[in-house]
Amino acid sequence: MNKGFMVVFDGSNGAGKTTVIKGVEQYLLSKGFDVLLTREPGGTPIGEKIRDVILDPTTPEMSFMTELMLFGAGRAQHIQEKIVPALAQGKIVICDRFDAATFSFQHYARGIDLDTIIKINDLALAGFSPEINIILDLDPNEGLKRVHSRGEGLDRLEDEKAEFLIKARNGYLKQAQQSPEKFEVIDAAQSKQAVLADVINIIDTLLVKRS
Ligand SMILES: Nc1ncnc2c1ncn2[C@@H]1O[C@H](COP(=O)(O)OP(=O)(O)O)[C@@H](O)[C@H]1O
Ligand SMILES: [Mg+2]
Repeated sequence: MNKGFMVVFDGSNGAGKTTVIKGVEQYLLSKGFDVLLTREPGGTPIGEKIRDVILDPTTPEMSFMTELMLFGAGRAQHIQEKIVPALAQGKIVICDRFDAATFSFQHYARGIDLDTIIKINDLALAGFSPEINIILDLDPNEGLKRVHSRGEGLDRLEDEKAEFLIKARNGYLKQAQQSPEKFEVIDAAQSKQAVLADVINIIDTLLVKRS
């Protein structure tokens, strides 16, 4: 049995993560792979409770450090309870957001110093790392327009100022520049079909490398 691997989709809200993940899941299932879809914050029963606390728009008073540690707590649980066991069973794990989001939002946008982010993140990851982060890159204003047209209310992080969301976007691009071996950036302003085709190219390359 091949060892499993983990692909993370990340980027601005409304960039098309959920949409493309569904397409990737179909593609991989049609090829006979065992796939696990999961997300952060969330992914486990405990993680989903933490997600509700993090994203609750009625509690804007949450301190940045509380937020960072809640993300870390949820990630530690997610890796131990769900991700590592799935990979051990040979599954391809597809995760909607992961630790790159912590760097983008909590460091680049919130301004928490990098050392603190790395400390909490390293505690949560305990040496674990996903195979690749696929960043769907989109102007956050365009993303917000898409989110509005999805007809759902905004969560606590989506409800931040445009400047915050732009810093987070640039944070993803900086991480991708600094660690090109861990990141792929896709132009998410393209059509859904074109985005999916770009993503499938990346996944196919990963599959070839592992076969
Ligand atoms: N490439 C695209 N072009 C135009 N609209 C898109 C594209 N990808 C997704 N959408 C639409 O934008 C909205 C947000 O997409 P979604 O996949 O939910 O984004 P995310 O999960 O990144 O927040 C949805 O209504 C979706 O149908
Ligand atoms: Mg989504």
